[in-house]
Amino acid sequence: MMQKIILIGYMGSGKTTLGKKISELLSIPFIDSDFEIEKITKNSISELFEKIGESSFRNLETEFIEKLDFNSHFVLSTGGGMPCFNDNMEFLNKLGFTIYLKNSSDVLAERLFLEGEKRPLILGKSKAELIKYIDDTISIREKYYSKSRVILSPENQNIESILIELKNFKLY
Ligand code: S3P
Repeated sequence: MMQKIILIGYMGSGKTTLGKKISELLSIPFIDSDFEIEKITKNSISELFEKIGESSFRNLETEFIEKLDFNSHFVLSTGGGMPCFNDNMEFLNKLGFTIYLKNSSDVLAERLFLEGEKRPLILGKSKAELIKYIDDTISIREKYYSKSRVILSPENQNIESILIELKNFKLY
């Protein structure tokens, strides 16, 4: 059985943290798309946005997921915007088991306000601007995110609840 678990969600929803825990528990590799794209291009995400622009970055994300080995196990943590461009969501649903970590914009704004400087899309925004930006973009992104196989509300964004879901779907 191939375990390909794909975490989806807005910036700050905890994909990387939870992804690492799942990978440890299942003893399968952890892949973080942002981190891998930074390694391949030898540029940070911020540098890529600056040098090649967002739409070229989106194409790098598409190229990256298309090159993943279908016959392998992994937990993939996706960049927050990835599912919403180039039909990536459809591709991700074919590739593996997608899990959406759904969070309210208030909670996300709070978290991102504290760590915003790494993320070019929210760089320099005040808390009020951040809340508005998140509200606006989530309303566009939600229709892609919600195509995930499983949608987890905040109280279920933990390893125990994920294991229950994986068992339900015979993935564990
Ligand atoms: C982005 C999310 C980021 C990163 C880039 C763009 C987005 O990933 O890919 O800054 O469009 O939401 P994280 O969700 O890991 O922060």
